[in-house]
Amino acid sequence: MPKNLVVVSAAIVSLFATPFALADTAAARAKALEAVKRDFNPRGQASLDRLAEDMVQLICNRTANNPSPENTKRLEAKQLALVKYPADGKLMGDWKKGETLAQSGRGFTWTDGAGGAVGGSCYNCHQIGPNEQAFGTVGPSLLGYGKLRGNSPEIQRYTYAKIYNAKAFSACSDMPRFGHVGALKPEQIVDLVALLLDPASPVNK
Ligand code: HEC
Repeated sequence: MPKNLVVVSAAIVSLFATPFALADTAAARAKALEAVKRDFNPRGQASLDRLAEDMVQLICNRTANNPSPENTKRLEAKQLALVKYPADGKLMGDWKKGETLAQSGRGFTWTDGAGGAVGGSCYNCHQIGPNEQAFGTVGPSLLGYGKLRGNSPEIQRYTYAKIYNAKAFSACSDMPRFGHVGALKPEQIVDLVALLLDPASPVNK
């Protein structure tokens, strides 16, 4: 369903919601969660704690991804405050390593060994290179990202923080919070920043 339709239907539902209907919604939600927990089987490192929501996910899930403007601001500020930067303060790493990471979708599944390498799988949602055989379109194309924006310290900081925790800038973003959840380390995120911002990177050719 288009996003604005979801928003409109959520508004209509809340307009006519009686306490009775709310109780029904809560009961339906509890039933759905029960079914999900019953039907999802933990395997290897993919354990059921992955179904747990943190506060920002909970609020997004309960508002059809449309929290109030004040809540959105508050949630984003909290997420931004959780971003950890590399100890040496350098935000541009090696674009070649970044490219390998961006094009790897391995890691974190039950068939991957725990503690094994985790890729960024950026290609699953973004165009992020000139020679990709396939890429997803859930996120905007990142081709020419650095060419368009330059690589000033502000852009480096934004790009690093966006990859570390996308919800710091868009509370209900569908983009995974790579640094926040520990999928990628700061040393790896700086390589992705270089992939996007280094003038020598294929992204900017
Ligand atoms: C599951 C899909 C998904 C994956 C995987 C994903 N992204 Fe995103 N990304 C998005 C979406 C959707 C947006 C736009 C909404 C937003 O800003 O959060 C976005 C936005 C961005 C932006 C901001 C673009 C701008 O114009 O400001 C950057 C930078 C970015 N992604 C980088 C990455 C990198 C690097 C990776 C891999 C480590 C990655 N993304 C993986 C979905 C994804």
